[in-house]
Amino acid sequence: MKITFAPSAEASVLLKARIVEQDKLPADLSPAMAKGAQASRFAGKVGQVFEGFQQEGDDVVRLALAGAGKPGGDARLANLEKAGAALATKYLTSGEKALGLDLSDSGLSAREAAAVLAGLRLRSWRWDAYRTKLKEEQKRSLEEVVVTGAKAGTEAAWEVEAAVCAGIEFTRELVAEPANVIYPQSFVERCRKRYEGTGIEIAVLDEDEMRELGMGALLGVGQGSRRDSKLLVLKWMGGNPGDKPIAFVGKGVTFDTGGISLKPPAGMEDMKWDMGGAGAVAGAMLALAGRKAKANVVGVCGLVENMPDGNAQRPGDVVTSMSGQTIEVINTDAEGRLVLCDALTWVQKEFQPARIIDLATLTGAIIISLGHEHGGLFSNNDKLADDILGAGKASGDKMWRFPLAPEYDKLIESPIADMKNVGPRWGGSITAAQFLQRFIENDTPWAHLDIAGMVWADKPGATWDKGATGFGVRLLDKLVSDTIEN
Ligand code: BES
Ligand code: MN
Ligand code: ZN
Repeated sequence: MKITFAPSAEASVLLKARIVEQDKLPADLSPAMAKGAQASRFAGKVGQVFEGFQQEGDDVVRLALAGAGKPGGDARLANLEKAGAALATKYLTSGEKALGLDLSDSGLSAREAAAVLAGLRLRSWRWDAYRTKLKEEQKRSLEEVVVTGAKAGTEAAWEVEAAVCAGIEFTRELVAEPANVIYPQSFVERCRKRYEGTGIEIAVLDEDEMRELGMGALLGVGQGSRRDSKLLVLKWMGGNPGDKPIAFVGKGVTFDTGGISLKPPAGMEDMKWDMGGAGAVAGAMLALAGRKAKANVVGVCGLVENMPDGNAQRPGDVVTSMSGQTIEVINTDAEGRLVLCDALTWVQKEFQPARIIDLATLTGAIIISLGHEHGGLFSNNDKLADDILGAGKASGDKMWRFPLAPEYDKLIESPIADMKNVGPRWGGSITAAQFLQRFIENDTPWAHLDIAGMVWADKPGATWDKGATGFGVRLLDKLVSDTIEN
């Protein structure tokens, strides 16, 4: 979606839109428009769109009114995104190529206008790479939004938002791609290509290097796959040279069959998005670099494929993690924590980060708890937890906190090793988090985000179509801007 700013709309743009506050129909509508809006019960509520036609000079213009709800409140920006998204939904495949968005009487601030544009852009994103037989009316037609009448500063505000949108789109792309296309090596290559010219530094550890470092837990997961495991390291050092970085660590299981503890067939195709945590980290780095965030940030993605094979690890195997702690692998399908634990140890040894946040599609149990409305948050630090909850509310990537406690930690004791990789059935998301906490050194502020219910949507949502949502990018971006840049 191309978004441009102009002093006035070109005469050739015959589809126009305006943003309308609830119960405040513009006074300058033609009688037919005003009557039509009323007759169809258009009140300017969030997400409502009314379309009519009105004469402008010699032309008949197709005019859409998009409802933004009432001004003010926590959800204001989210509501404006929905208004933009509603326009995208309506016109994406309408046959119209350009939309003139007239903000002159909208009263929207620069930041608010940018939210409308973000909604428009994000809701227009689709991954059509593999569709060769779309009918004409199924193809996206809307290519451009021309913004007129925006307040001073709107272009600059949009530049920042556009960087975040680009990050979200990159995450969606990585998540949407199937596992025969995105596997550890190709994930790395896709990042390399996308990061060209951004200032993001990339380093990659291969299996030999990881073996040298003693990452037996991560390597054990990948050992049944023909694809080599990788540890991808991303650096954006836009902050003060001396400042310790914040670290983002992502679970990047590019396909999770369960391994020898094989998953049942129904729905297994979903496990192509078991790299959604790593995808969010990769997208967040792009967003931060794109808007030149004044912060030091490292992203680490543990990239593996979990396959059953003659060489795969077996239930009951004991592996030694980079931390030196040993793990009895009771269930090879509880593989995400095995990948993350070595990535967590490595990032601590390498960077001594000020804060660590891991993101992972870690447990089905978190979807039982929270459905698809919140991600699960676990933390050893109340301040960090509150910062993340706040960033979640403000960004729309909402999180909900769960407990950690010694009583849960006891549940992963093993008769043969330092710990086992699963607890009992109950509280499965919590014992998974307890497992990770065992790899956090010196009480470094750490949070674990279990986003299994959030990275993929079976139906369209506020600013996404069904499919990959890009969850987590805005959360991390907001956390950085609120806690490091301000
Ligand atoms: N990747 C899955 C978790 C998952 C399930 C994500 C459904 C998204 C949708 C994870 O690796 C897994 O298999 N977890 C097991 C853990 C169990 C074996 C303790 C689970 O949740 O069933
Ligand atoms: Mn699994
Ligand atoms: Zn998994």
